[in-house]
Amino acid sequence: MTKTLKDQLSASAAKVETVIESLLPLSQGIEAPLLEAIRYSSLGGGKRLRSFMVLQSARLFQVEELYALRVAAAVEFLHSYSLIHDDLPAMDNSDTRRGKPSCHIKFGEATAILAGDALQALAFETLASEETHPESGIRCRLVNELASASGGAGMVAGQMMDLVGETNSLSFDQITRLQNLKTGEMFAFSARAGAILSGACSNEEDNLRKYAERFGLAFQIADDLLDLEGDPSEVGKPTGQDENANKATFVSVLGADQARNKAEILIEEAVIMLDNWDEEAQALRDLARYILERTN
Ligand code: IPE
Ligand code: IPE
Ligand code: MG
Ligand code: MG
Ligand code: MG
Repeated sequence: MTKTLKDQLSASAAKVETVIESLLPLSQGIEAPLLEAIRYSSLGGGKRLRSFMVLQSARLFQVEELYALRVAAAVEFLHSYSLIHDDLPAMDNSDTRRGKPSCHIKFGEATAILAGDALQALAFETLASEETHPESGIRCRLVNELASASGGAGMVAGQMMDLVGETNSLSFDQITRLQNLKTGEMFAFSARAGAILSGACSNEEDNLRKYAERFGLAFQIADDLLDLEGDPSEVGKPTGQDENANKATFVSVLGADQARNKAEILIEEAVIMLDNWDEEAQALRDLARYILERTN
């Protein structure tokens, strides 16, 4: 990773962390364990790549940073909920996440399910707030786009396909669709966030979607390679789980070398989608080139 990207990522993560903290409900009353679980799973961990993408996208369209930071926090809330539920025994049954016990290990399954539910609602509450954008049309579009990226025709559909793939053999096209929905859609929302916030022309938004779709597929290949080859203490979550659960991934169908080649091609294609921009999109190019070398 270039030093510039590293510095940019940590500066962005610190800012997003502060906004996340300010938006979280405080513990009070006998529901306190729920609020503790929400804080446990949304603060102090994660690479914050989706929120970085939101901020960089906002930069392309000169969007006010405070608006972008709130959208970034909303994306991280949604993402944290998806990870809590993904780790549950009924899904991937993963005991560690971000180098700590998973939410359900620490707080119990019922509390983890509720923490995920609450984080999902908080994402939309954040987007719908007037502090996120003064124009109701833009707020409405943010809510609408995050809902379709994350819901039953987006990330959740991808998660369902991921489970169906454990016991059914999927075609290459089905695996591509699965990974696009499971992982690509949330990156696509993040990369388009600046365009949505600024009401930019659809052509620019479309290029950002194409960038993020390729990015998302390559990102998931990197995640699947880490599951196969990574060191669990560095990755921060269990490894070897995809093979054990018989997951349908590009790595399982192509093998590690070809999957890595595919990811490299996808990354170069993603970068080309940013050709309309100059140095203001450099961080998005650097981010795409970094995801395959990552170790966590
Ligand atoms: C993990 O995402 C889930 C996938 C889509 C593979 P990240 O690797 O971005 O998770 P954090 O937020 O950095 O922990
Ligand atoms: C899950 O993919 C992606 C989500 C939508 C949460 P994985 O199941 O591969 O993610 P990890 O490896 O547990 O982070
Ligand atoms: Mg999973
Ligand atoms: Mg998982
Ligand atoms: Mg994985």
